[in-house]
Amino acid sequence: MRKQIVAGNWKMNKDYFSSEIFVSKLINLYKKTDTEVIIAPPFTSLRLSLNMLKGSSIDVAAQNMHFLESGPFTGEISASMLKSIGVDTVILGHSERRTYFNETDSLLAKKVDTALAQGIRIIFCFGEELIDRKSGNQNLVVKNQLKNALFHLPKIAWDKIILAYEPVWAIGTGETATPEQAQEMHAHVREILSNNYSSDLADRVSVLYGGSVKSDNAKEIFSKPDVDGGLIGGAALDAEHFISIINAI
Ligand code: PGA
Repeated sequence: MRKQIVAGNWKMNKDYFSSEIFVSKLINLYKKTDTEVIIAPPFTSLRLSLNMLKGSSIDVAAQNMHFLESGPFTGEISASMLKSIGVDTVILGHSERRTYFNETDSLLAKKVDTALAQGIRIIFCFGEELIDRKSGNQNLVVKNQLKNALFHLPKIAWDKIILAYEPVWAIGTGETATPEQAQEMHAHVREILSNNYSSDLADRVSVLYGGSVKSDNAKEIFSKPDVDGGLIGGAALDAEHFISIINAI
């Protein structure tokens, strides 16, 4: 059985104090189910969130990390630094990192290796741009993103990989992929995994959908057989909305 996961990506939102308010609301509202819940606050709120959520089943992820362990890289954070405060999951490959910080597939492959070497689980984001979808190239683009950053990994490494399909044209735009478009791509991803590894592996990797998921469209998207939950941006910033998305599974 694949794990169902709902993860909230806060991006560059919430300072230390508003994070504290959010996490205490979340703790009050949250009722444990089989769905795994993850929040990804900015670096400055990671430790606070971890401390507040100690003993709860809600996990805390970082939004990024460098591919080297230390060195003269002003402003960067390494995998072992994340590990040292208890972070065990990181988002890699988000389209905002790819677009605004020039993160390429080959850089992401290095980050993936470093995270795994530290035993850090990865939520790996991928997805096509509008131009790719309009020209019908979405399947090829996605296949290349996965191949270039992940397909050097041995089968065993996939125990620590969660995939998140996020069509770039649906992120923060209010425009969601239809449940059918999401299902179609998720099934395609499973087929690629099956061809490159095995059907067994393809069956057990959780593939989340991300891109303008809200409480009113989550249920329909999550009901698709190959959609195993969501990576939520804007709607994860409000505890009530986030909880209603979790409950939509
Ligand atoms: P959004 O962001 O839900 O605000 O579209 C999703 C994401 O970027 O992960």
